[in-house]
Amino acid sequence: MLICVPGVLAKDDVAEFRRIMDEAEWEDGRSTAGAQSALVKKNEQLPPAGETARRLGEHVIKALTASPLFMSAAIPLRIFPPLFNRYGVGHKFGTHVDNAVRGDHLTGMRIRTDLSVTLFLSEPDEYDGGELVVEDLYGSHEVKLPAGDLVLYPATSLHMVTPITRGTRVGSFFWLQSMIRDAQARSLIFDLDGTIQSLTERVGSDDPDSVRLTGIYHNLIRYWAEV
Ligand code: NI
Repeated sequence: MLICVPGVLAKDDVAEFRRIMDEAEWEDGRSTAGAQSALVKKNEQLPPAGETARRLGEHVIKALTASPLFMSAAIPLRIFPPLFNRYGVGHKFGTHVDNAVRGDHLTGMRIRTDLSVTLFLSEPDEYDGGELVVEDLYGSHEVKLPAGDLVLYPATSLHMVTPITRGTRVGSFFWLQSMIRDAQARSLIFDLDGTIQSLTERVGSDDPDSVRLTGIYHNLIRYWAEV
């Protein structure tokens, strides 16, 4: 399931990110790729352990945890320090699957990558090409979102970024380990949460059925969560 979360970063924040990123030193994107994906990856990224990536990454994580939709969809246990990439004309990232486990040298954090995240930092009209294409059971899905929006997709899926033919596409990408490992269980909990939200808007959060459903929501998390 692909889930888009709008407005994770405000446009002012995006502009500030872009100003800082424009002044930074970039390196070959293959430094964080696995053996197979290194063969198909052609882009640039901010050095993952560098001051700029770390500082911007902390800002991204703060914004994520303030987003109820993101938290509801991902139920994150651990979020990998966000990375930042840049695709110019001719850059692309061919079809690959992300590594199952990622370790971070600086913090010692190690996660199982349940979900992959792309946070768009360029507006769609700034570049041509550069669609994120994610394959699932229902076919291929092309994603190109406004700056400040993100997409969550299963890290198990084959995906690619199509070649850029005009302009520059910058973004942040990272992975997270969810408390709910099973994608179907996570999807059910997300659906239940959304239903409870809209029900309580109509009948109030003290309605007995809202209270019972909220209890079921928490008990399903208690049943499935790894913490
Ligand atoms: Ni990838």
